[in-house]
Amino acid sequence: MKRIALFASGSGSNAEKIAAYLANQSEITISFVLSNNPKAGVIDRARRGFNAGQHVPVILFDRKTFYETERITQLLRDQEIDLIVLAGFMWLMPAGLVQAFPNKIVNIHPALLPKFGGKGMYGHFVHEAVVAAGETESGITIHYVNEHYDEGQIIFQASCAVAPTDSPEDVARNVQVLEHEHYPRVVAELLA
Ligand code: GRF
Repeated sequence: MKRIALFASGSGSNAEKIAAYLANQSEITISFVLSNNPKAGVIDRARRGFNAGQHVPVILFDRKTFYETERITQLLRDQEIDLIVLAGFMWLMPAGLVQAFPNKIVNIHPALLPKFGGKGMYGHFVHEAVVAAGETESGITIHYVNEHYDEGQIIFQASCAVAPTDSPEDVARNVQVLEHEHYPRVVAELLA
């Protein structure tokens, strides 16, 4: 059995798609969801079993625990986590955690890295920047995570057209379709 830990602090739509996809794969399980945001939509989704029939425990932590203790790294080690999946997790991963799980932490970014990445480039800011730059395409980047925002090795990209009339909301919608289509499959393939 391969074990995933999901880090998320937003609505959790990607986490839910991953859970639904993995519900059909008996050899991979989501051990728990970790979040720094007690109000995150992902928590309700996890407690409902992500609509995939499996209850997924939620672990909440604060900034001090994450950056000033080894508790989260130790938990991931104790549970023998094979892959750490970031799905809308905003905080930088601490160096100790990255070093403890080399090439075992992945993230999805809602643009075609290396463009439109880095600190502060998240959510609507990304899509606003893409439109403001007059880009003709955007997309998703699934990449390994290191100690810097959005700089780890790229695993997979998919793109979508951006029309001159598209608003940032239009781009966000098209990018989200790509996220939901590809992230679950790529995660499963990394564990195959
Ligand atoms: C996604 O756009 C993802 O690319 C980014 O954070 C967002 C999470 O959305 N890293 P959701 O919480 O999965 O709906």
